[in-house]
Amino acid sequence: MTERRILVTAALPYANGPIHLGHLVEYIQTDIWVRFQKLRGNKCIFICADDTHGTAIMIRARQEGRSEEDVIAESKVAHERDFAGFDVDFDNFGSTNSPENERLCGELWQSIRGAGLVKEKDIEQLFDVQEGTFLADRFVRGTCPNRACGATNQPGDNCSKCGSTYTPAELIDPISTLSGTTPEIRKAKHLFIELEQLHDFLDAWTKSDEHLQLEVLNYLKGHFLGDASTPEGRKTLRDWDISRPAPYFGFEIPDSPGNYWYVWFDAPIGYMASTLQWCERHGESFDDWWRNETTEIHHFIGKDITYFHTLFWPGMLKSAGFNLPKKVHIHGFLTVNGEKMSKSTGTFVKAETYLKHLDPSYLRYYYASKLGSRLDDIDMNLEEFAAKIDSDLVGKVVNLASRCAKFVAASGLSTNYPDDGGLFEQAAAAGDEIAAAYEQCDYNRAMRLIIELADRANPYIEAAAPWTLKNDPDKSQQLQDICTIGLNLFRQIIIYLAPVLPRIAEQTGELLATPIKHWNETKTPLTGTSVAKFKHMIKRVERKDLEKMIEDSKEEDVTALPTSQFNDSAEPLKAEPLAEQCTIDDFVKVDLRIARVLTADDVPEANKLLKLTLGLGGDETRTVFAGIKEAYKPEDLIGRLVVCCANLAPRKMKFGVSEGMILASGPGKADVFMLGVDEGGQPGQRVH
Ligand code: 2FM
Ligand code: ZN
Repeated sequence: MTERRILVTAALPYANGPIHLGHLVEYIQTDIWVRFQKLRGNKCIFICADDTHGTAIMIRARQEGRSEEDVIAESKVAHERDFAGFDVDFDNFGSTNSPENERLCGELWQSIRGAGLVKEKDIEQLFDVQEGTFLADRFVRGTCPNRACGATNQPGDNCSKCGSTYTPAELIDPISTLSGTTPEIRKAKHLFIELEQLHDFLDAWTKSDEHLQLEVLNYLKGHFLGDASTPEGRKTLRDWDISRPAPYFGFEIPDSPGNYWYVWFDAPIGYMASTLQWCERHGESFDDWWRNETTEIHHFIGKDITYFHTLFWPGMLKSAGFNLPKKVHIHGFLTVNGEKMSKSTGTFVKAETYLKHLDPSYLRYYYASKLGSRLDDIDMNLEEFAAKIDSDLVGKVVNLASRCAKFVAASGLSTNYPDDGGLFEQAAAAGDEIAAAYEQCDYNRAMRLIIELADRANPYIEAAAPWTLKNDPDKSQQLQDICTIGLNLFRQIIIYLAPVLPRIAEQTGELLATPIKHWNETKTPLTGTSVAKFKHMIKRVERKDLEKMIEDSKEEDVTALPTSQFNDSAEPLKAEPLAEQCTIDDFVKVDLRIARVLTADDVPEANKLLKLTLGLGGDETRTVFAGIKEAYKPEDLIGRLVVCCANLAPRKMKFGVSEGMILASGPGKADVFMLGVDEGGQPGQRVH
C-alpha cells in the first residue's frame, strides 16, 4: 500500500486556561491516532496551536494589569509542558497570534470577499458601559429568545437547551457577566459571511459518510441545513458575523479599519499557520499539505464545536480554494464518577495536578479503553480506572515480560524461534483487525483485541513455568526457548499498544535491543538478540495517590463552574446557571442561621480561602473555610454578622474540616459579596 500523506489537528486550546482531564480526552485520542499512522509508515504530521484571540484574554489581561502577549506567552509554556507530560507529541505547536496566521487570514479573507460572500450590516450589539466594551456572546447571559423554549441564563450566541442560535441583542433580559450590569444596545458595523450561498456545497459535503459520523450529519440536517430533497424541508443558513469592533484582541481587518476578525474566523486558520511554521522548519511545501487533494486532512474536535468545523470551516476552505477536511472526528465530553467535573469535589483535575500523583500511561490506556468511534460521552470512573490498569497493563501485559526477561538476561533470545503452538502467528494475524479499529478511532475495540492476545499468552507462560527450570542446567535450552516465546508475544502486544503507550514501547525496544519502528514488526519474531536487565515499566495504581490527586484538586470556589470542557476555559461563565428546581420540603432542610464572625485567618497555602470561626449563639460554633480571600481582609470580618448554613455535613478539605458555609454571591475573586445581616440580628436565629 502506498504511503498516505496525512495532516492531523486537534482543537486549539484557549490560551487563558489550564489543560485539564477533559481536554486530554481529545489530545490523547488524537495523539494515539497520529502515532498509529506514523507506525504504519504513513507520512503524518500533528498540528496544533494556542487559540489566543478574543475578549476573554483581553479582559483577563486588563484585570491582571499586563499585556495580552504576556498572558498568552505564559499560557503557551504551561500548555506545552502539560502536553509533553502526557506524551502528546505535536509536530508543531503554534499560536494564532502569529505573523503567519495574520498573513493567511488576509489571504482567505480576500478570496472570501472576492467570491462575493461578505456583506456589511449595522447591527445592534450589547455594550457594557461600566467596562467600556462591546460584549462577546459568552459575556452575556439572558433568556433564550425562542418563545417555545424561554430557558433562562443562556449565553449570548446559542441556547444550551434548545440549540437555537441568535445574537446577544436578541436575548431577553440580558446581563453582562463582566460587571453584572444591564448592558445597553449600541449600533456598530459588522461584516458577515453569507453562508447560505454555500448551502448546496455544504449539503453535498456533509452528506458523505466519509467526512462525518452519521450522528453529526443528522444533527446538522436537523438544526441547520434541513432536508434539501424538498423545498419546504430546506432551512436557511444564517449569515455569520465574523467581525468585532474595537476594543478587541485580535487582527484588525485590513479593509475595514477599527474592526477585527472574530476569534472563530482566525482560530481554524491557525491550523494552517501552524502547518506553515512546520513546513518552513522542514523545507516542505505548504501547498503540498493544504492545496493538494492527495493529502488527507483530519480534524479532531469535541462535539461542542461541531458547527464551526462542519459548516463555517469547510465553507471558508471551499471559497478560498484549499483542501477540504477528509474527516472531522468528533468525540463526546468527559464526566468523572458519573458527574460533570467539579472543583468542589476535586474531580476538575488539571493536567499538572494529575502528573504530580499518577503515571500518564495510566490515563492514555484508560482513555483508549473507553473511546469508541461515536460521539458518546465517556465516564472516568476512578475505581474502574485503577482496576483496569492493574488488571490489564500490570497483570496481563507487563507481567509477561517481567516473568521471562530475567532468565534470558545472560543468554539473550534463542537463535531460532521455537514452536509456540501457533501463538505468535495467531497474534500476527490479528494485526489487520486491530489496525482497522485504530483507523476508525475505535480504540475500545483495539484494546479489547490486544488484551485477548495477552489472555492467550499468559496461560502459556503459566503452564511452561520458566521459574521452575532456572536451577536445572539440563533445562537451560528449554528455559531460553520459553522465555524467547514469552518475550516475543509480549513485544508483539507492545507494538500494537505503541500508539497508546509510547514510553513502554521505548523501554521494550531497549529491553530487547531492537527499537520498535513499524507496525509490521509484529509479523516476524525476534531471535538471537541480547536481553537487557529488566527495568520497572509500570506499577499498580496506588489508591492513595488517586485520593491525593482528588484532594489536591479540591478548591473552595464560590464562582460558577464551566459547563463544557472547551468553551468555558475561554469564556468563564460568571453567572451561575440556575440549579434544578427544589420543593419547599427540600428548602427547609437547609438550616440557615445568623452567625457572628469570631475569628478570621488567612490560609497562606490556599489562593482563595479564609478560615473563619462562626459563633451561632451559646457555645455553638462552626469552623468554615470560605473562598473570599480576594474580597475581604480577615481583620475587617471579625465581629460581622453573616448568614451561615449550619447543618451542612462537615467536609474534609486540604487545609482542615469545613463545618458549614457562609452565604455569598458574585462572579468570584474580588467580586464576592457576603449576605449581610443588620445589627440587631442575634447569632443562632434561624433565617426564614
Ligand atoms: O473551543 C475551543 O476550545 C476553541 N479554542 C477551539 C478552536 S479549534 C480551531 F478551530 F481553532
Ligand atoms: Zn432555547
